[in-house]
Amino acid sequence: MNRIPGPHSAFGWRINMFHFFRSPFAFQQKLLEGYGKLSALGQSVKPSAVFAFGPELNRQILSNPNFFEMSTALVKIPKDTVMGDLFYHNLLLMSGEKHKEHRRLIQPAFLHSQIERYGQDMTLITEQLADEWRGRTLIDVNTEMKKLTQRIALKTLFGVQNSEMMDTMGMLINRFTKSFLLATLAPLNIPFTPYRRSLRNAQQLNTQIRSMIHEKRQESDATDVLAALIRGHDEEGSALSDEELVGHAFSIYTAGHETTANALTWAFFLLVQHPNIYANLMEELNAVMGGSHLTQEKLSRLSLLDYVVKESLRLLPPASIGTRITNAPCELDGYALPEGTNVFFSQFITHRLPELYEDPNYFKPHRWQTIKPSAFEFLPFSAGPHMCIGWHFAMQELKIVLAVLLQRFNFSLVRNAKITPNLMMRPVHGMPMHISLDHGTFERVDVRGTIHRVIEYGVVPACLKK
Ligand code: HEM
Repeated sequence: MNRIPGPHSAFGWRINMFHFFRSPFAFQQKLLEGYGKLSALGQSVKPSAVFAFGPELNRQILSNPNFFEMSTALVKIPKDTVMGDLFYHNLLLMSGEKHKEHRRLIQPAFLHSQIERYGQDMTLITEQLADEWRGRTLIDVNTEMKKLTQRIALKTLFGVQNSEMMDTMGMLINRFTKSFLLATLAPLNIPFTPYRRSLRNAQQLNTQIRSMIHEKRQESDATDVLAALIRGHDEEGSALSDEELVGHAFSIYTAGHETTANALTWAFFLLVQHPNIYANLMEELNAVMGGSHLTQEKLSRLSLLDYVVKESLRLLPPASIGTRITNAPCELDGYALPEGTNVFFSQFITHRLPELYEDPNYFKPHRWQTIKPSAFEFLPFSAGPHMCIGWHFAMQELKIVLAVLLQRFNFSLVRNAKITPNLMMRPVHGMPMHISLDHGTFERVDVRGTIHRVIEYGVVPACLKK
């Protein structure tokens, strides 16, 4: 079989991975232009990492979980610890029958009807945040969106509604996730290490979630995700154990809130930098909502809002790249891959292929009136058995938050702000914006940062300029 083309380096494949992490979008674009849809880093005979681009390779990877498995190589947390309890009962780290069985048990919490019920909480919590913004003129949209998606997750997931409890849970989770990253680098169980700290944080969090499970078992009318997980069981009557409930509740929470916050942040950014689309969307919102309360029926009539959300997820997907590892020798695009090869597939590159999307680097929400990409052509929530279980939840949340906040405030970027997305689409210097009650002024402003490398702008009609 032929060798996979790709960049070589005297220092091995890791040096290329370093280039990738330093400049992920430009690096992938260069691989695509230089070597085509499949390229290998390091030696091409036994590559340690390959990058696969485009819908056909996405399909080969994502629909063959028997060969292309979720990689757990980076996770060095011992399973039989309280940290392991939080971490390993997690859909993303399961495979085969076990994954199918747990997904079936969790699915009821994400049924259409259930998600529509969460819609009311999403609206109320967003309105509360808007009330808190009264009197403010400058916000960091990314920080505010994280605060908001965290509150929404705590309410819809655990049923937590009093602000004291929200703060306690938020604090415990943030503490654990921060210490956890350091702990995975050096899992040494000795005093004063991040690992020991992380164990302590995990224990507190675990105890808190368990006491919520205990209380929830006494409530018969709770409608949150945790209650649905507790009630869920399959045809044989088996249900999730308390240990599994803790792990799933924690992982659903962590999988859901930061991705959604980043997606919201970029949707705001793209809107304010495209004044004509922003103006059109405000017209639609005013016509459908007219300042009144948002309902599911009204939400379904906001078609431009739907296109704006899809187009933001296409252009700046919060999960911009995915990874798998081969668990046996196999083939990809006709090339042989040995066992243990790290395989990267890229939402970012797929969403920008000109054969799939005309003017791929432009923000053009109206394209969604006519295009209908396949599951492997548009995959902000991935595809195949591990496709995001919360995608419908997230789509609803994105639309509700945008609709409520855009109705309440006018947004504009701070001139010359540095706007730089990282690999996880977090704007590393934040997203500073002016907010005001003065609707009707739409203006694109100059910004700095690497965002210019990934977005191209059209011309703004003169009537929308100041
Ligand atoms: C814009 C927001 C979101 C994005 C972009 C996103 C993206 C993704 C992606 C790409 C995957 C699959 C990863 C892979 O195949 O390697 C995934 C899985 C998952 N997501 Fe999301 N997600 C979002 C919101 C949410 C929300 C709101 C929840 C829950 C409330 C959630 C829960 C999960 C879970 C539990 C999985 C694991 C599914 C499995 O392995 O079977 N996500 N998400």
